Amino acid sequence: MKIIITGAGGFVGQELARVFAADHHIISLTHKALDITDRETVRAYVNDKRPDVIINCAVLGVDVCEAHPALAEAVNVAGPTLLAEAAAEIDAEIMHLSTNYVFDGDRELGAYYTANDEALPINKYGETKLAGERAVLAGAPKSYVVRTSWVFGPGKDNFFRSAARSLVTQQPVRAVNDLWASVTYVSDLVARISDILALRRYGTYQVVNDGCCSHFDFAVELARQLNVDASTLVEGISDATAKRLARRPRNTPMRCLLSAELGLSPMRSWQVAAADFLRQLGG
Ligand SMILES: NC(=O)c1ccc[n+]([C@@H]2O[C@H](COP(=O)([O-])OP(=O)(O)OC[C@H]3O[C@@H](n4cnc5c(N)ncnc54)[C@H](OP(=O)(O)O)[C@@H]3O)[C@@H](O)[C@H]2O)c1
Repeated sequence: MKIIITGAGGFVGQELARVFAADHHIISLTHKALDITDRETVRAYVNDKRPDVIINCAVLGVDVCEAHPALAEAVNVAGPTLLAEAAAEIDAEIMHLSTNYVFDGDRELGAYYTANDEALPINKYGETKLAGERAVLAGAPKSYVVRTSWVFGPGKDNFFRSAARSLVTQQPVRAVNDLWASVTYVSDLVARISDILALRRYGTYQVVNDGCCSHFDFAVELARQLNVDASTLVEGISDATAKRLARRPRNTPMRCLLSAELGLSPMRSWQVAAADFLRQLGG
């Protein structure tokens, strides 16, 4: 297939482009190469390249959205809207990446959110991501939304990678212990996106590794697998201590009804995926 990836300079976009290049004709567009909020350029580009699929990985991050709400609307809502319109115009498919932060996270521990649950975001990022999802589903008949959550892998200097790097060298890690969600190994996300595109069943998917954890639980598990002492190296802190601009939903693990209905195999547990992550970092 000919696939345009937007936001391809980011974490997920880069990994998708790298892996998909083996089987597809990939047009990998960084922010500099295509600004998804530029209506005329988006339209002209999509019409000219005529891809089979557009995968939108462009996004404005959680705290930046809170600080710059108008930019959040532009990147997370107007951009996907334009991409969906452009896809519909040439009868292409569009896949839009989204997030567990569309949910409020107020459920009791042990509960999971499915795509049938009401999305009630509590921050600007979640609000705009939800609006972007709706715009894509309404704007293009051949549309997929893929919600994912707390993505880890070697390609981004986020909490997961810095915790792993620190623990490998027995450096201390501070980790939030009162927010929980599903985590997702980027390789597993990309593999599942490939499965979904092959089935061509449009709708909303929730692609995450099995299970649920806090950043603290994740760091403790890494320490266990690395055989280093979590009790001295991993310090639990509260979300309030982390002092971030946007509120985070408290408990947002997800499961995917559509994957189960389509007979896709259950995603492996986050602990097994974390072992692969450590091997990949070590190698
Ligand atoms: N990473 C996670 O933990 C996570 C969790 C849940 C859901 N997701 C979803 O997964 C998707 C990909 O996330 P990610 O982690 O790969 O994000 P990322 O690493 O922050 O990458 C996002 C990319 O989008 C680009 N971008 C921003 N504004 C743009 C615009 N107007 N036009 C074109 N590109 C633009 C950015 O370029 P510049 O930096 O140059 O502006 C950046 O390269 C998003 O939909 C996100 O909501 C990610």
